Amino acid sequence: MTSNASFSDRVKGRSAVPLWEIFSDVVFPNPRPLLDPRHWKYTDLRPLLMESLDAVAIEDAERRVLILSNTPGHGITHSLFCGFQVVGPGETARCHRHTQAAVRFVVEGGNAFTAVDGERLYMSRGDFITTPSWTWHEHTNNDETPLIWLDGLDVPLSNFMQATFAEVHPAGNQEILRPDDDSVRRYGAGMLPIEEVPGHQHSPVYKYPYDQCRATLEALRKGPIDPAHGHIMKYADPRNGGHVMPTLAAYLQLLPEEFTGEALRNTASQVFFVVEGQGRTEIGDETFEWSANDVFVVPNWVWFSHSADNDAVLFSYSDRAALENLGLWRETRQWNPA
Ligand SMILES: [Fe+2]
Repeated sequence: MTSNASFSDRVKGRSAVPLWEIFSDVVFPNPRPLLDPRHWKYTDLRPLLMESLDAVAIEDAERRVLILSNTPGHGITHSLFCGFQVVGPGETARCHRHTQAAVRFVVEGGNAFTAVDGERLYMSRGDFITTPSWTWHEHTNNDETPLIWLDGLDVPLSNFMQATFAEVHPAGNQEILRPDDDSVRRYGAGMLPIEEVPGHQHSPVYKYPYDQCRATLEALRKGPIDPAHGHIMKYADPRNGGHVMPTLAAYLQLLPEEFTGEALRNTASQVFFVVEGQGRTEIGDETFEWSANDVFVVPNWVWFSHSADNDAVLFSYSDRAALENLGLWRETRQWNPA
């Protein structure tokens, strides 16, 4: 015993540790979620978003965002960031770029655009917009009402990898290089140029309009339904069917009236935004009642299931793309499909 302790101390005295002393702390049989599930009601947050328009000038804020903080590092999960961003009438949030990748889901929009990589993308409610890693982006609201969207980023993951770079555009605004919504028309209509599309690691489509995506979900009603997800579709890179980005996956799903979903769990941590309808989601041993514009978060490897009172549409994003790329994606369903 004495000699063992002495050996251990001598090892530790050389900035080393015997693996057998800590094996169960670093190699465990299944994930150990460190998160709590949580639910944010939009009716609680929207008044604060409106107040923030007066609380801070856009020039002083860089981005006027209320973070949905669920970890000590202000992630909504260990890998994901989430916030509501507001741009007031007539305001522009100046152009910048960073290695952290972003997705946006428009909550309240009008005559407003996000410019990404030299292209203006006009923002209507429900539109899904990507801002891939290291692409210039800025936001302009030409409407008379505030512009609000949900921001989803891989900030904690990127920061954990200590691969974060960021800079402000030297001119304040980027040069517009293509017609408005060009990527949607060029790559988002089920056709591609016969030449190879530039080899980004992300989808060449920067906006997935809600009217098109919603119509797709509606058409799915005529086919089979997934017992856990309802009618669900992935926002996809049209070149290869992959996720829109190497780190972030995003989905839109329709839960028909009185849908009661079966439970599943997987290694992704997931953020849900309620686009339409009302219902509830059981996450672990808690139940969260949600309605339009609410956000809730499902930790990794925790059982969850959705139910809808009326037709409900959920947008979600997760770190599934990163997990798949790293060979760490796994999912378990309660029922046996065989
Ligand atoms: Fe940004």
